[in-house]
Amino acid sequence: MKLPDELQKILLSAKEVVALTGAGISAESGIPTFRGEDGLWSKLKPEELASFDAFLRNPQLVSEWYEHRRHITRLSKPNPAHMSLVDMEKIFPHFTVVTQNIDNLHRRAGSRNVAELHGNIERNYCLGCGMRYDGEDFEGNESFRCKKCGGLIRPDIVWFGEMLPADQWNMAEEAASSADVMFVIGTSAVVYPAAELPVTVKRSGGKVVEVNVEETPLSRYADYSFQGPASKVLVEIVEQIKETRKVAKGG
Ligand code: OAD
Ligand code: ZN
Repeated sequence: MKLPDELQKILLSAKEVVALTGAGISAESGIPTFRGEDGLWSKLKPEELASFDAFLRNPQLVSEWYEHRRHITRLSKPNPAHMSLVDMEKIFPHFTVVTQNIDNLHRRAGSRNVAELHGNIERNYCLGCGMRYDGEDFEGNESFRCKKCGGLIRPDIVWFGEMLPADQWNMAEEAASSADVMFVIGTSAVVYPAAELPVTVKRSGGKVVEVNVEETPLSRYADYSFQGPASKVLVEIVEQIKETRKVAKGG
């Protein structure tokens, strides 16, 4: 895959760059996506597992499901696509990862400027007293109840019908509205408000570059669309960005 000259030029002078990521970027780390034939939502019902009502109705079931997903994410490792975004953070003066994923893989890869729109499965808190149960030490005890007050412990993630964390959303919107380029990677681009962000980029005069194994509703709207696994495509993109910069410097 060779980047079009025009895009090379844009990337050479780009100062503000954003990567909007979805479940597809973690697929090659062994974490299931949501939509499509093998997606989680083809076998499980979001309304039974991923809403506050569902949690109150059956806290044990929902907690066990998240415990299971936490287990999978901890066993998995960041893949070359995540690592490419760590490289990009070093290349561009301002680089932001905006992710819909809760799997913590961007941070584990080493990305530092990350907006987590849907929360993070490694963070949990008690509904009763607010006590936090964060990080790799947290393993749900059998009842998933707070040590201090006995309240229910919930994951600090966004369920259907819940608001996005305002600070994370503001960070994402600001990055999008000043972006010269946004890479949209491994997302079906159908879940709002995240799916609005590429529109914000284009409205503010930036370019949208999609990376996905298949066509999405965004593909025709994007300025450039590359089809292929995120790891392969992003590694190639980063190589070419580095090469162009070397040549431009006269190296
Ligand atoms: P989806 O499962 O909807 O979409 C995953 C996308 O990744 C699809 O477009 C696939 O074609 C693409 N894909 C799969 N493997 C890939 C690979 N190796 N390389 C590149 N692309 C690949 O996941 P999201 O768009 O992230 O929300 O879903 C958005 C939100 O819907 C999630 O954050 C979650 C879900 O309900 C909440 O939990 C609030
Ligand atoms: Zn408590």
